[in-house]
Amino acid sequence: MADRDLRDFLTKLEDAGQLKRITAEVDWNLELSHVAKINEERKGPALLFENVKGYDTPVFISALSSTERLALALDMPTNWGISQLAREWVNRTREQLPPKWVDTGPCKENIDTGDDVDLYKFPVPWFYGQDGGRYIGTFVSVITKDPDSDWINAGTYRMQLLDKKTTGIMIIKGKDADLHRQRYAELKEPMPIAAVIGYDPVLFLCSSTLFSPGQNEYNYVGALRNLPMEVVKGEYVDLPVPAHAEIILEGDLWPEKLRDEGPFGEYTGYYSGKGVVPRHYIDVKAVTYRHNPILHSTTVGRPITDTHMIQSMNRTATLWGQLETMGIRGIQSVYIPPASCGRFMVIVSVKQMYPGHSSHVGNAVISTSTGAYGVKVVIVVDDDIPADDMDRVFWALSTRYQPRRDSEIIKRGRSTPLDPSLPIEAREITSRIIMDATIPYEWKEKPEVIELSTDVVETMKKRWKEYGFEGELIY
Ligand SMILES: Cc1cc2nc3c(=O)[nH]c(=O)nc-3n(C[C@H](O)[C@H](O)[C@H](O)COP(=O)(O)O)c2cc1C
Repeated sequence: MADRDLRDFLTKLEDAGQLKRITAEVDWNLELSHVAKINEERKGPALLFENVKGYDTPVFISALSSTERLALALDMPTNWGISQLAREWVNRTREQLPPKWVDTGPCKENIDTGDDVDLYKFPVPWFYGQDGGRYIGTFVSVITKDPDSDWINAGTYRMQLLDKKTTGIMIIKGKDADLHRQRYAELKEPMPIAAVIGYDPVLFLCSSTLFSPGQNEYNYVGALRNLPMEVVKGEYVDLPVPAHAEIILEGDLWPEKLRDEGPFGEYTGYYSGKGVVPRHYIDVKAVTYRHNPILHSTTVGRPITDTHMIQSMNRTATLWGQLETMGIRGIQSVYIPPASCGRFMVIVSVKQMYPGHSSHVGNAVISTSTGAYGVKVVIVVDDDIPADDMDRVFWALSTRYQPRRDSEIIKRGRSTPLDPSLPIEAREITSRIIMDATIPYEWKEKPEVIELSTDVVETMKKRWKEYGFEGELIY
C-alpha cells in the first residue's frame, strides 16, 4: 500500500458497521453539530453528512468518539480499552518512520489561488449558539517549520472562518507552532503555514499529541501505521503536506498581526470566559483539494466527544512513555479518563516494590511534561486494580485512601488557560492533588482482600452455559 487516507478509514468504518451516512438535508448552522453531539452522547457511530444545506461537499464527524473506532484507526484489536491502546502506542513509537516525498498526489487535483480562494466553498459548521462564528479547523493538523532547522511540526489548533480568505487561529503560548512564530517575529517575516483537513486520522491523533519540541509528528504517524506518510511540497508554502489529504489551506501567518477570534465552545464544556479575543490569523493564499472533497470536523464541547477520546488516548500514551523513560518500575496501567476532558485526572496502577513507591509514582506523574501541564488530580492504585476500571478505582478510594495521610497538595503548577475552575484572570497556575489509594507497602499487617477461588472460577468457566448464561465466561 502506498499510503492511507480518509477514504480508506471510511471504508474500514463502513465494513465494521461503524459509519452512518445521513442523506437527509442538514443545516451546517448548528443543526449538524447538534445531531453529531447527541449521537456522540448516545455512543452512536461516526457520521457522514452527505446533504449539507447549500453544499455538495459532505462533512465527516465523530470519527473517533468510541474506543472501537480509535482501535480501527490504529489497526489495533477492537476489544481493547484506551489504556491498552495507549500501551501499544508506546510500543510502536519507540522507532520513528519518516515520510516519503512524492512528486504529486490527489490533494493537487484542484488548486485555487488568488481571487479563486473562497473558504465559503466548504460546508463549515457553526457548532454552538454562543460561538463567534463557523470553525473550519477542528479535526485539523497545522503544519509549520522552524526557520533555523528542518524541524517540521504538526499541531491541532482551532481555526475560525473570518472571511473568504482568512481564518483565525488559536495557538496557545508555548505550543510548538508558537515557538516557530516567535522566531518568525524576530526575523520580521511571515510564517508559512498549511492546515490539513481530512486525511488518515492517525495524523490528527499525532498532531494533538504533546510531543517534545523538535519532534516531527509525521515520523510518529509512520511508526504507528508501519507505513510512511506520502508528502508533497505545498503549492504556496515550502512545506511537506500529505499527498492524500482532502483539503489543504496554505498561507501566511504574520507573527505580530491579530484579528478578533472566538468565542468557541471548548472541550472543557465551557467558553473560555474571555469572549472575543485578538488572535493570530492565516492569510490563505492557496487551497488545494481532491475531487469531491470531504470536510472532516469534530464537535468539541463538553465531554465526551472524539476530542476527549483522542486526548485521553494520546495523553495516556505519552505519560506512560515518559514514566518509563524516567525509569519508574512496577507500572501496570495508566489512564486519563475521557470524562476528565482527557487531561485533568490521571490514574496509575502500580505493583509496589519498596516503601514510598506509590508516592514516587504520584510525584513522577506531575513531573513529566504531560502530567506537568494541566493535570490536577493523580490517583495511585495497587496492581489488583486496573487504572481504567472506574468501579475498582472508586472502591480503592473508598477503602484504601485516608485523606489526611494519603493526600499531597501541590500549590503551583502549569495550568491551561481553559480551566474553568480558576478565575478568568488567573489561569496560568493550578494546584494539584496526589491521592494515594494504595495499601501502604510498609504495613506488616495488611487488610485481607476477598478473592474468588481460582479453582471454582475454572469450574464455572466449563459449566457457564449449563448455568443458563450466554457466551463464554472470561474472567
Ligand atoms: C480538537 C482539538 C482542538 C484543539 N484546539 C487547540 C487550540 O485551539 N489551541 C491549542 O493551542 N491547542 C489545541 N489543542 C491541543 C493541541 O492540539 C495539543 O496541545 C498539541 O500537542 C499541540 O501540538 P504541539 O505540541 O505540536 O504544539 C486541541 C486539541 C484537540 C484534540
